[in-house]
Amino acid sequence: MSDVLAGLHAIVGNKGLLTDPAEMGAYAIDWRKLFPGKPLAVARPSSTAEVSAVMGFCHHHGLAVVPQGGNTGMAGGAVPDTSGRELVLSLARMNRLRGLDPVGMTLEAESGVVLQTAQEAAVAVNRLLPISLAAEGSATIGGVISTNAGGVNVLRYGMARSMVLGLEVVLPDGRVVDGLRQLRKDNAGYDWKQIFIGTEGTLGIVTAAVLRLMPRPTQRLTALVSVPDPQAALDFLVLAQDALGDTISAFELISGFSIGLVQRHFGLSCPVGAGEWYVLIEAGATLSGLREAVETAFEQALGQGCVIDGTIAESGQQAADLWMLRERVTESEAKESKSVKHDVSIPIPSIPQFLIEAGQALDRHAPGTRVNCFGHLGDGNLHYNILIDGHDPHDINRIVHDVVDRFGGSISAEHGIGQYRVDELALRRSESEQFLSRLIKTAIDPLDLMNPGKVLSRRETR
Ligand code: FAD
Ligand code: MLT
Ligand code: ZN
Repeated sequence: MSDVLAGLHAIVGNKGLLTDPAEMGAYAIDWRKLFPGKPLAVARPSSTAEVSAVMGFCHHHGLAVVPQGGNTGMAGGAVPDTSGRELVLSLARMNRLRGLDPVGMTLEAESGVVLQTAQEAAVAVNRLLPISLAAEGSATIGGVISTNAGGVNVLRYGMARSMVLGLEVVLPDGRVVDGLRQLRKDNAGYDWKQIFIGTEGTLGIVTAAVLRLMPRPTQRLTALVSVPDPQAALDFLVLAQDALGDTISAFELISGFSIGLVQRHFGLSCPVGAGEWYVLIEAGATLSGLREAVETAFEQALGQGCVIDGTIAESGQQAADLWMLRERVTESEAKESKSVKHDVSIPIPSIPQFLIEAGQALDRHAPGTRVNCFGHLGDGNLHYNILIDGHDPHDINRIVHDVVDRFGGSISAEHGIGQYRVDELALRRSESEQFLSRLIKTAIDPLDLMNPGKVLSRRETR
């Protein structure tokens, strides 16, 4: 064992260090198998003190560190490069729920706690942790915070950032910064925790967080409807918001193509007649009258022609079955073909026109590709994924992102930049924005040891 590995072993012990390539396999590559890497080793510390000691050691020896949570990320941010010189720091063993306060409505968790575990802990005290995404059975609190994850409830509750009240982080030199406050209001000085949220492990390690909980709605209504086209889906969104206000927690657009994939690969049946497009809508409330309000909204929508057909779930099981049609889309896509993912946001009223123009651009420049489009319409966030069937993936990114630019959209609504979109981001950020980003990176991580080459290119930070 080299001196470096022996030094790491002395900190984290046998359980905390993997060096065998076979054992490191799952940590070396992302789940889509797009970004294979070669770790120096995988450290799996079990406490903040151990994370701090590992970081101090790496700082001293000039070792780069790649933080990893559940490794469900979409942008290759959690895996090392192929040099064999980067240490993967997995937070998986830091999985303790440190506290749950139903009165103050907060939950304190270490960063390796799986999102679903935290959600279930909140439910046990009749509270809601509203961050929800299809990977919640594996994604971790640290990963969710470090990517500022979105998911299906952003419309009502905001992105992960809006749930973070306090953070504990370890800086690249090993220093621990404890900001685990439970306060709703705290304007005392710089709100430094914000720069660790959504920066994908490029500034430090998130070791624990205090998250805000919400009241748990006692009534929940889930419905699937078919709509003639995306403009009709938007008309329905406006109508539903007028009728149901902020009880709407999810408003998901799903193409008929996406539903077809889920049916083919998971054998699920769709209770709503075949349509070009579908909307999955969920509303929740504690006071009575929700069902009546939803039914009235549907009747209006049917009358106006923006909804063709639909069903309201009559039980928790039926609601879960409807959600399966949405949540299995990503896995079905992976089974169907290699794909180029686009995680775009577009000003909401422009979405129908964006879809027309993106489709035309693909027909012109990449004929024969298939579009798997679905996403969080209520937030203006579409997953516009292209099944490439032999085309050059780089061309496809550029073709779609050029259309996104024309509409003043973003090329990463919720998945982040990772290593996947570094070049595309650099093309789109002004010189002054890039200068400011480099200034922050250099101030906190002057040696560029934290997840190098992710979000910002290595060249820019050295
Ligand atoms: P990882 O993949 O392990 O890491 C993600 C990034 O965060 C990496 O850059 C990593 O270095 C960094 N990181 C991880 N932990 C830490 C830490 N403790 N400290 C510092 N940096 C850290 N995302 C959405 O936003 N919305 C969705 O709807 C959504 N749906 C998904 C559906 C499926 C089926 C899948 C597979 C993924 C989906 N994702 C979605 C993407 C992914 O689940 C989220 O980005 C999630 O937040 C990543 O969590 P993780 O623990 O797996 O992080
Ligand atoms: C989702 O919303 O299910 C994921 O973010 C999407 C994806 O697979 O691109
Ligand atoms: Zn999504």
